[in-house]
Amino acid sequence: MLSRIAVLVSGGGTNLEHLLLAQEAGRIPHGKIVLTVSDNPGAYALKRAENHGIPGVCVPKKGVPQAEFEAALSKELAACRADMVILAGFLAILSPEFVRQWPDRILNIHPSLIPSFCGKGYYGLKVHEAALTRGVKVTGATVHFVNEIPDGGRILLQKAVDILPGDTPEVLQRRVMEQAEWVLLPQAAELVAAQIAKEKERVQ
Ligand code: GAR
Repeated sequence: MLSRIAVLVSGGGTNLEHLLLAQEAGRIPHGKIVLTVSDNPGAYALKRAENHGIPGVCVPKKGVPQAEFEAALSKELAACRADMVILAGFLAILSPEFVRQWPDRILNIHPSLIPSFCGKGYYGLKVHEAALTRGVKVTGATVHFVNEIPDGGRILLQKAVDILPGDTPEVLQRRVMEQAEWVLLPQAAELVAAQIAKEKERVQ
């Protein structure tokens, strides 16, 4: 039995692309990506989903009250009968009330070795700028669950990436994506999809 996966995005969608490629290559045998949701109508990620024949919808966040936004998001997730949610460069914040409904069912990818360079204000390129400013020699990426506190961000997978002399934030971002994010996220998707599939079979 396959776990139905919804991928939430906000921007370019290279992580989504690599999930879709992994699925097409048979590297997520226990999961099926059934929907892409963007909070940003202009996200190129929606185009990527379309190119792969995966439905994509926009649930706008800008100017929408949090409860209304999350109600619309929940409706989409219910309509596609999602079993799990992957935040792949999804930059909108989800409330504890929302997260509570998906225990161990939401995964997020973050472009650093958590607990370094994470939390408020650390997203996208800013994470890499901070790592370079601090002068760390190793960074990486982390895939973690998004749960309620105290188990807020239990870590599933991490991969280290070297920082090299002369790195700019853009160069470092690309290396972290290539060497860590695009590798880890499909692996994490399969790990959790397999676990959920096992649970679904047990209750059948
Ligand atoms: C990725 O580097 C992802 O790790 C990061 O945003 C980028 C999205 O790229 N996410 C965060 O910073 C979350 N705090 P993509 O749209 O090309 O996948």
